[in-house]
Amino acid sequence: MIMNSLQDTIKLNNGVDMPRLGLGVFKVEDGQEVINSVKWALEHGYRSIDTAAAYKNEEGVGQALKDSGLNRDEIFVTSKLWNSDQGYEETLQAFEASLEKLGLEYLDLYLIHWPVEGKYKESWKAMEKLYHDGKIRAIGVSNFHPHHLDDLLKDAEVTPVINQVELHPKLAQQEVRDYCEKHDIVVEAWSPLMQGQILEEPVIQELAEKYNKTAAQIVIRWDLQIGIVTIPKSTKQHRIQENADVFDFELTDEEVVKITQLNENHRVGPDPDNFDF
Ligand SMILES: NC(=O)c1ccc[n+]([C@@H]2O[C@H](COP(=O)([O-])OP(=O)(O)OC[C@H]3O[C@@H](n4cnc5c(N)ncnc54)[C@H](OP(=O)(O)O)[C@@H]3O)[C@@H](O)[C@H]2O)c1
Repeated sequence: MIMNSLQDTIKLNNGVDMPRLGLGVFKVEDGQEVINSVKWALEHGYRSIDTAAAYKNEEGVGQALKDSGLNRDEIFVTSKLWNSDQGYEETLQAFEASLEKLGLEYLDLYLIHWPVEGKYKESWKAMEKLYHDGKIRAIGVSNFHPHHLDDLLKDAEVTPVINQVELHPKLAQQEVRDYCEKHDIVVEAWSPLMQGQILEEPVIQELAEKYNKTAAQIVIRWDLQIGIVTIPKSTKQHRIQENADVFDFELTDEEVVKITQLNENHRVGPDPDNFDF
């Protein structure tokens, strides 16, 4: 699989093209901090931004999108439905609130942020309505284990296009990836850099030295070569650029396997079977 540029896309199961690499903005403050991050990313050629109602920075993201002067159809915008907004009517309202904050007329991708027990199926019905109404180009989920997806798919009219999960070399998520591949659902990595904690890993550092790249670039390249979508976060201009400068080298198949074998099923975030928010 050869990837040449930051604008390379993957085809989702409903035919929509999504950039393989985007910018995440979790824990980025609304106002100038998020405006700058998104601005630098777009200037550098990023075309996909991952936010969420829970990040409380949709207004700043929207401002930066507007300031960029790019056409709406050149940018891929993701937001997410927060847990306390789940339920049918609540989802419809939460979606409108996100759209308004972002200052957009439609979203490219809207995700159920976490599988809230007893609620996510109702929420999905509302997501399907919004999708059929043309207000969202693609709908998906986040933090769903295969058993959550099995349950959702039993009654779903629309198959999720994406499952966004914690994924990095210490949590390679083979089971989720196998399940999603079978059901034509693209896997997207959150905390792809393990929130910075993977960068000291000797195997990664060795490869960084070999390719004259940084540890972050090695990990992001691994994401792309295992066929997932990835959204590293940074608020620093030089790192936003660095994280996207991964198209001038290719890991060998053996190196990809070596990184995957670092897996320890180790999470830095909560397990979707056991969260209390
Ligand atoms: N669906 C979910 O439940 C969920 C959960 C968590 C995250 N996400 C999404 O996934 C995105 C990414 O995950 P994340 O923000 O948790 O973690 P991450 O992208 O794995 O790591 C971000 C951390 O690494 C640092 N960093 C970034 N690039 C670097 C580089 N080149 N060299 C050294 N350090 C670097 C950043 O610091 P600086 O900012 O200081 O550069 C930040 O501390 C989020 O922003 C969000 O959009 C989704």
